[in-house]
Amino acid sequence: MMQIAPSMLASDFSRLGEETRRMAQSGADMIHLDVMDGNFVPNITFGAPVIQAIRPCTDVFFDVHLMIREPLRYLADFARAGADGITFHVESEGDPEEIIEKIHAAGCRAAASLKPATPAERLYPYLKSLDMVLVMTVEPGFGGQSFQAPMLEKVKLLKEQARRQGKELLVQIDGGVNLDTIGQAALAGVDVCVAGTGVFKAPDAAQAIRALKEKAAAAR
Ligand code: DX5
Ligand code: ZN
Repeated sequence: MMQIAPSMLASDFSRLGEETRRMAQSGADMIHLDVMDGNFVPNITFGAPVIQAIRPCTDVFFDVHLMIREPLRYLADFARAGADGITFHVESEGDPEEIIEKIHAAGCRAAASLKPATPAERLYPYLKSLDMVLVMTVEPGFGGQSFQAPMLEKVKLLKEQARRQGKELLVQIDGGVNLDTIGQAALAGVDVCVAGTGVFKAPDAAQAIRALKEKAAAAR
């Protein structure tokens, strides 16, 4: 079954706690938290203190997506704030092997992400130690952009490469996921879809998450 991770970037920030609870009650498999530093991407969102503040709202998996230039500097802060999984970008600074090791040492699941221009091969050396990979289906930085379907080729390549290494790798996509695009994602083998606007702009989040899962199941 396709997992859905609502992106809190599309929520009402003035009611972040309630919004987190609402997503948990609506059947979210993960809560996706987009951290942007205004440097790695041209936008600033929130950091570890905000994540810590909403941590008591739910037990649902906190999936922290770091779009920051120096992940090594802040990993421990995000783990302490209550991240269950931490995703970093291979295009950011620092040795990926060391970053993965530090994420694991902090007790979190480790994922690495690719911007649209970065080829799947960049992640091959790290598949053994990663728990998940994130293939961006939009340019990171903003919600509400349109889905880049050619990115699904990378999903297939990464799945195949992991299988060759004897591993069932979780693959997540992020950006532009909605009822029109989730079918293609399911066909390509995606396991987890992040959805911001697709869930938050719907009148009923629970119904939106259910519909996304049903669309994905029908496509496989
Ligand atoms: C983009 C973020 C996404 C974004 C997705 O940089 O990583 O998580 O919030 O938003 P939608 O689903 O609206 O494209
Ligand atoms: Zn994200």
